[in-house]
Amino acid sequence: MNKKTIRDIDPKGKRVFVRVDFNVPLRDGAISDDTRIRASLPTLKDLLGRGAALVLASHLGRPKGKRVPEMSLAPVAQRLSELLGKPVKMLDDCIGPAVKEAVAALQPGEVVLLENLRFHPEEEAGDEGFARELASLADIYVNDAFGTAHRAHASTAVMAKFLPAVAGLLVEKEIEMLSRVLHSPERPLVAILGGLKPKIGVITNLMKLVDTLVIGGGMAYTFLKAQGKEIGRSVLDEKSLDLSKKILDQSAQSGPPVLLPGDVVITTELKEGAPTRVVSVDEIPADWMGADIGPETRRRFSEAIKDAKMVVWNGPMGVFEIPAFAEGTRAIAQAVAESGAMSIVGGGDSAAAIEELGFGDKVTHVCTGGGASLEFLEGKELPGIAALEDK
Ligand code: 3PG
Repeated sequence: MNKKTIRDIDPKGKRVFVRVDFNVPLRDGAISDDTRIRASLPTLKDLLGRGAALVLASHLGRPKGKRVPEMSLAPVAQRLSELLGKPVKMLDDCIGPAVKEAVAALQPGEVVLLENLRFHPEEEAGDEGFARELASLADIYVNDAFGTAHRAHASTAVMAKFLPAVAGLLVEKEIEMLSRVLHSPERPLVAILGGLKPKIGVITNLMKLVDTLVIGGGMAYTFLKAQGKEIGRSVLDEKSLDLSKKILDQSAQSGPPVLLPGDVVITTELKEGAPTRVVSVDEIPADWMGADIGPETRRRFSEAIKDAKMVVWNGPMGVFEIPAFAEGTRAIAQAVAESGAMSIVGGGDSAAAIEELGFGDKVTHVCTGGGASLEFLEGKELPGIAALEDK
């Protein structure tokens, strides 16, 4: 990465503003997956170990510029405090006199967490005045919020104008891993895409890079439809039909091969206990819908993954939250884990799936960013990274 990182600064005795991505899933007010909090620890511990005082800031959810108590970062402060083994003081806001006062009293080794940045509409608007207010709280700006690096918001990009601005260790690691896919892939390189909507920009870019493209999950039905198949009530993204067809034509003419499901698990309702059948993709009845890839497809996809030297995977193969439709995602997770390939799993859902299915420690890298990793693989510049100082 050609950007400065925390290794290039001396944080001793300084107040360091760290933009983290603590946008974690909450269930009944409790954190159901703390991966993103744990992923920030190397940067936070490094800075604390070198004598910094930390001002941490994040968004949580999409409160649309209003104070929404259910989207308070308070549960995160508590979890972070457990993980760091020291108090993390939760502040009531992210700007204003009380925040300034609390931050001014910070001693080296101490940590405060500001309240949800998106309680202020200025955050997403990228407002300069708001960014300046945030910047006035610290001497150095660190961006370690990889998951939010594709947003040009006040705290992710604009603030970098007002302070020395460097990347954290998580951002550095994520960019390094994803860059290998784009710039020095090991071959065969297999990309596996799933999830709901066709990621057309990413697919177009990956078509130039990969040896095989595997498409499963909800997005496969748009491709099947583009091949002229009847997909019943399966999810369809009409807007992507033409481009899906183009991608299939491109694959037929000059490769790389695009593998689509040949059989699918169908249902009448996306819930546990609903009737299911395994059918060929040529036989999906009008009032049924696809919910997972079928056993023949699992075998075929796994076979393609087996010989890969590098795998990049984004998006589940089916509605894996419902056990009856989790087999496809499980089989792919297993194939990726057993392939011995360098494997990068990105996207909230596939990352959660691989952890839940117990394969988290068998892949090379689990990305903390969904949208951010996709935009990176699409070849786009991420505003949160672009704003940082060059090496
Ligand atoms: C994410 O979860 O992808 C990031 O935290 C960004 O969130 P956003 O899509 O609401 O900007």
